[in-house]
Amino acid sequence: MTNFFDNFSLRSHNTFGLEATARYWAEFHSTAELIEIVRHCREHDLPWYVLSGGSNIILTGNFPGVILHPAARTITRPEPTLVRAEAAVVWDELVAWCVEQGLGGLENLSLIPGYVGASPVQNIGAYGAEAKDTIETVEYLDTETLQIVRLPGRDCAFGYRESIFKGTLRGRAIVTAVEFRLTDEKSGNYTYNIGYGDLHEKVMALGGASLAHIREAVIAIRQAKLPDPAVTGNAGSFFKNPVIPAAQAAALRAQHPDMPGYTSADGSEVKVPAAWLIDRAGWKGFRCGTVGVHPKQALVIINLGGATAQEILNLARRIIADVEQKFGIHLTMEVNVL
Ligand code: EPU
Repeated sequence: MTNFFDNFSLRSHNTFGLEATARYWAEFHSTAELIEIVRHCREHDLPWYVLSGGSNIILTGNFPGVILHPAARTITRPEPTLVRAEAAVVWDELVAWCVEQGLGGLENLSLIPGYVGASPVQNIGAYGAEAKDTIETVEYLDTETLQIVRLPGRDCAFGYRESIFKGTLRGRAIVTAVEFRLTDEKSGNYTYNIGYGDLHEKVMALGGASLAHIREAVIAIRQAKLPDPAVTGNAGSFFKNPVIPAAQAAALRAQHPDMPGYTSADGSEVKVPAAWLIDRAGWKGFRCGTVGVHPKQALVIINLGGATAQEILNLARRIIADVEQKFGIHLTMEVNVL
């Protein structure tokens, strides 16, 4: 078996930069290698966990089992508008490749950290687009049957930062590749998605809608608002945007007329930006010892240097309690805790 290490530091494999070790670290370059590792885990009764980019996780301690790390990173184009990427392709490299090929569908998701394998699990999203809009098929290893399954996107139970891989297949499926159905920019059938926030304005300033301009604008917006994990440890949005009943939103708007919100299609619910709630509660730019709240985006908790998982979680608990007290809204975490 290749690349199997013991007592392996995970420090450089989580974007929060937390100190933790794995009893074993195992990289898999093929499904055959993955099956071999999973068999080994079963025989030795070892727990396993898949860690790819580590961009959405808090490591609370040393992991007593095997960390499975994908290593296959080939992009192919089985059909003119179908792109297949293996799990370890860096997400933004896939987006850049598709934009270069003139294939539309992923450009709004530029610069999201992480690997392709995590994109269906989280149903990553930004600037009015979500991975689910283009995912045609997810390939995964079913660790109980040891079979590779090809699951159509429509059967992945995608929701806002949710999927079957966080639900009934949690702990059972290991994503090995994802296929995306994209649209040829030159076909005349592609609708650019630039309605979100200040994206339209930025794209127009670059000379009008095109895949390359949308990518450039999204990168500029993200770089202006979100901290670079290579400089400041963080895991992007720490909380999900809460969805509340329309009546509760109306009552809150009576007190806070400037509260932003996105009403659901049937008008019954409103998604409120957690960033606005946290900001309005006074936490933006807050610093306490080794942890803080990003001064340019209140949804991002940052490691100011040497933070522990407990310090991060304690700050998160304080924010949750305060927002609940001030707005009657319970925030839930978007990051995973291991
Ligand atoms: N706002 C504030 N204070 C802030 C930041 C934002 O009041 O400090 C308010 C503003 O009114 C703004 C609204 O919140 O209009 C929404 O802010 P923004 O457009 O920055 O988006 P978000 O809802 O905070 C979500 C995603 C991000 C994604 C952006 C852009 C979640 C949990 N987060 O953030 O995703 O990049 O939209 O589409 O849905 C991530 O998941 O890690 C992530 C960064």
